[in-house]
Amino acid sequence: MTQKSNPVSCGVNVFENNAEYYGSVASPIGPHDHYFLDFLSTYAGRQLHLLDVGGGSGNFATLVTKTIPDMDVVVVDPCAPLLEMIGDARITKIQGALPYAMNLSDSECFDFIHVKEVLHHVVGDSIRDSKEQVKVSLNELNKHLDKYGYLLISEIFYEGHIVPTFPRTLIFHVCRLQDKTKIKIPTKEFLEDLSVCFYTRDEFASMLHDCGYTIVGYYEKYWGKSLKTALLGVKERGRMLFIVKKGSGGDEITESAQDPL
Ligand SMILES: C[S@@+](CC[C@H](N)C(=O)[O-])C[C@H]1O[C@@H](n2cnc3c(N)ncnc32)[C@H](O)[C@@H]1O
Repeated sequence: MTQKSNPVSCGVNVFENNAEYYGSVASPIGPHDHYFLDFLSTYAGRQLHLLDVGGGSGNFATLVTKTIPDMDVVVVDPCAPLLEMIGDARITKIQGALPYAMNLSDSECFDFIHVKEVLHHVVGDSIRDSKEQVKVSLNELNKHLDKYGYLLISEIFYEGHIVPTFPRTLIFHVCRLQDKTKIKIPTKEFLEDLSVCFYTRDEFASMLHDCGYTIVGYYEKYWGKSLKTALLGVKERGRMLFIVKKGSGGDEITESAQDPL
């Protein structure tokens, strides 16, 4: 593993303890990943650089090196067991974490930064604090994004019926309760030591704006309903994928918001 100085330890960490789950089961490559892959493919043949933050076991990074062999790919992740699962020697692996410990040199800039299902794990003591940490992370990512580069963010949303933020607030507090009481919530989704803070689609878009990004592409995919999501008061849940660039000035959404597949 290419490992730069000042590594971040995962400690007793949900990812280290569940590396197998997070490496292969939790976020497998799905049709939605092709939204970003198709976008990146339009830049094939130009020897550009992609940073995959929280890239884990390299699912997306490996797809990129296979599909666009001339793209230089770096994965940053705090969890050494996940990084060790990356089998493609062309991928540079760096142990590091958002927001402040990515272990990249200040001047290192990338044409693309991909962040899939990571920011809901950047969590503070409260929802407000978590939001602040995500904004700090978005600002840190901005520093490593080329002037004309694109940030590709894939996140999960849960939205409630009357109060859109209700399900994520409930999920946040259930995780904290589980952590404090050490009484395991009897569903596989609430892993031991798990802390998550999800955002509604509006919240996420406004955090991007607040951090000086412009949304140029958007895609979303809904997930079906289940008894568990009904109990959490979920009206809509799914994935939201944003293609954003530096600089504010109104969103210029050129990509289709429809399911392209
Ligand atoms: C749900 S997994 C997604 C992995 C990968 N992006 C994928 O889609 O296969 C979350 C990943 O975020 C990483 N992660 C957690 N906290 C992080 C942080 N503060 N900074 C960067 N990565 C983090 C974990 O180690 C894990 O690999």
